Amino acid sequence: MSGIYFHIPFCKQLCHYCAFHKSISLQAKERMLNCLKKELKNRKTYLKGKNIDSIYFGGGTPSVYSPEEIQSLIDEVALYFTINEDAEISLEANPDDLTHDYLKGLKESSVNRLSVGIQSFHDEDLILMNRRHSGQQAYDAIKRAQEYGFDNISVDQIYGVPGLSIEKWEENLKKVFELNIQHISSYHLMYDPNTVFTHKLKKGIIKEVDEDVSLAQYELLISEAKKYGFTHYEISNFSKAGLESKHNSSYWKQKMYLGLGPSAHSYNINRREWNISDNLKYMNAIEKGGEYSEYEELSFNDRFNDYVLTSLRTMWGLNLNIVKDEFGESYYKSCLEKSNKFIQSSDIKIENNHIILTDKGVFISNDVMSDFFFIEE
Ligand SMILES: C[S@@+](CC[C@H](N)C(=O)[O-])C[C@H]1O[C@@H](n2cnc3c(N)ncnc32)[C@H](O)[C@@H]1O
Ligand code: SF4
Repeated sequence: MSGIYFHIPFCKQLCHYCAFHKSISLQAKERMLNCLKKELKNRKTYLKGKNIDSIYFGGGTPSVYSPEEIQSLIDEVALYFTINEDAEISLEANPDDLTHDYLKGLKESSVNRLSVGIQSFHDEDLILMNRRHSGQQAYDAIKRAQEYGFDNISVDQIYGVPGLSIEKWEENLKKVFELNIQHISSYHLMYDPNTVFTHKLKKGIIKEVDEDVSLAQYELLISEAKKYGFTHYEISNFSKAGLESKHNSSYWKQKMYLGLGPSAHSYNINRREWNISDNLKYMNAIEKGGEYSEYEELSFNDRFNDYVLTSLRTMWGLNLNIVKDEFGESYYKSCLEKSNKFIQSSDIKIENNHIILTDKGVFISNDVMSDFFFIEE
């Protein structure tokens, strides 16, 4: 099984926290669509004949394309790959694009999962973030999507934002859970380079929230999610039973994926590749047959450290049988030895030969993961 990711590198407006690759000039939309199709054809053997169980349109803002344009990309995938009957086909959408007409068209396409960027229901937060929509518009967009029959909806929210008190965060959580959606991705605000937020932080215009506020907001997120019957299956991801994102899980379960479009990453066990983060250079290279990506061959050790980093993020944890069979006795022994102190501090547990972070351990996940890395002398 494997996945395909399309990066749609356009946004109508720039959010002040976001460093994902995108352009606010939409002029090249049609040209980009053709280039994505061409790249797909160029790389049709990348997944070595494996079936596709997830297609993900991420961005940027995939909802800048019409449902027909999105469907034309899915049809193109079907020309070169076998898409499983139950494949998850997700589209990231901004709430203000989810109009009646758009949703009606999308429901007729093969897209069966929506990921909607809500971020907050409080208008003052949305203004600070430079979002294109109000809290009410975001709420209405989800309701509308449900009316059109979408029954696998994920919502993105951000916490740890300046001015977001614990009370306001609690209101956001209540409102989102009462929407009866199936999945939540909740991220702590990151101050990424070259964003307005980072610029404002450096100038002292905004201030990072205190660590105890961050922690309290994360704790609240976890407890509210549990209360509403969601499984905490990855550090920032929660879902109703059986509705974990197949696309995200392919990253964490080390499945192969092919990433298309500027800045998209691909992985086929031995190699990681990434496309150039420049729309014009990408399109010129695709059209003229030039280079548009770089790659890194993964050493045995890189593969092990990748496995630690990705598996420990999830509720399924690190499978010691895989470590023993695929990486060998010394890696296996190292994992067992390193487990001891974290078992004693109740940060991890071992169940059915899997090392799993406890609720307590999730708060120090980075420390735990880096301790398990195998460093070459
Ligand atoms: C790449 S965006 C695409 C989604 C879509 N364009 C939208 O904004 O609704 C995916 C999600 O990443 C999250 N995100 C982006 N930058 C972030 C940052 N600096 N800190 C925390 N979350 C961030 C936001 O929640 C956003 O919805
Ligand atoms: S959060 Fe979404 S809409 Fe905002 S700039 Fe990033 S990709 Fe674009």
